[in-house]
Amino acid sequence: MDNRMKGAIAALLPLLLLGAVACGGQQADGAALFAENCAICHGAQADGTMSGPPLVHRLYEPGHHSDFAFQNAAKNGVVAHHWDFGDMPPVPGVSEDEVAAIIAYIRNLQREGGIIR
Ligand code: HEC
Repeated sequence: MDNRMKGAIAALLPLLLLGAVACGGQQADGAALFAENCAICHGAQADGTMSGPPLVHRLYEPGHHSDFAFQNAAKNGVVAHHWDFGDMPPVPGVSEDEVAAIIAYIRNLQREGGIIR
């Protein structure tokens, strides 16, 4: 490799690294992740189905169910205790960051639904 080539690579490298950091820091899409992993039971708008309760519900506002409860639900599942839908199985396909994006999405729906300010 000649020196001009090396120079070009040296000049491009920081840009490549920056690009990687920018992509890595990009927000996961909470709406899409929710649709993929949770909506089948909790409803397309988190408004509930025959298989799971609505998450846009006073019961799940942050004061009652913190973000930790959501992380825990995805990771370990939930033993039925509020409703008659049965247990929620763990959702193994989502990372902590992805659940965080899902939580942000749900909190937003809760805000729109007037459940939280
Ligand atoms: C197979 C159906 C199903 C799927 C898929 C599912 N849930 Fe659930 N979820 C339930 C049921 C049923 C309950 C209610 C349990 C009860 O009676 O309290 C529940 C309860 C919860 C609770 C309340 C936890 C608590 O501590 O009371 C949260 C938060 C939750 N789900 C979040 C999620 C999220 C986020 C996803 C997607 C990553 C998801 N759920 C996917 C069925 C499901």
